[in-house]
Amino acid sequence: MKMRNLVVGGLALAFALSTSTVAIALQGKKGALEAVDKLAKKAKDASFAEDCKSAAKGLELDPVMHSFKPRARGGFGIGGKAGLVPANQDGIEAYLPALSKKGLSAADAGKMGEPVIEMANRVLAIAEVSDHLWPESKESAKSKKKWLELNQMMKDGAKEVAEAVETKNYAGVKKAAGKLNTSCSECHSVFRD
Ligand code: HEC
Repeated sequence: MKMRNLVVGGLALAFALSTSTVAIALQGKKGALEAVDKLAKKAKDASFAEDCKSAAKGLELDPVMHSFKPRARGGFGIGGKAGLVPANQDGIEAYLPALSKKGLSAADAGKMGEPVIEMANRVLAIAEVSDHLWPESKESAKSKKKWLELNQMMKDGAKEVAEAVETKNYAGVKKAAGKLNTSCSECHSVFRD
């Protein structure tokens, strides 16, 4: 009888633990998304870098990077709600290659300008936060210097995307989106398993 209680108790505990781990993981992603969104809205503030640094203390890299996933997977979409871009491009990671291939036309800009600036500011906030989330457990060859360089490339690309839209330099949007997209793949080839 005692043994059985122990087993039942153990199972109940295991179940409670596994559900709470899932809850924490979900909250982590949602929390990161909300934190990044809040920071992105202040991308032009003088305190932006400092604000990102303090926000980073409560964040982890994986959930922050998860914000790049499609809207349907819990990431940011493109624009306030689904439908602005095709469903298979409705996330930053999915939309960037399309933007770097096609750029923005003057005709698209009325509809896409603001959402692209919003996206760029979110990427900028993610890059700024990531400066403080270097995965230091990785081999030393994958140095912190390289991490900061690649993050800098992500910041420059994001700023250039926003500036190009703001100055109606549509050819520049395409080029800057290409640079931004390269920062993702270069960093993943070094730091992501
Ligand atoms: C400075 C390095 C760096 C840059 C730049 C970078 N990433 Fe990442 N990214 C990582 C690392 C490291 C991981 C793995 C994180 C982990 O699993 O802990 C990752 C993971 C991801 C993931 C998976 C998240 C998940 O849910 O597991 C996505 C999506 C992603 N990155 C998209 C992007 C996009 C899009 C860009 C460019 C706009 C980008 N990343 C730029 C380092 C980087």
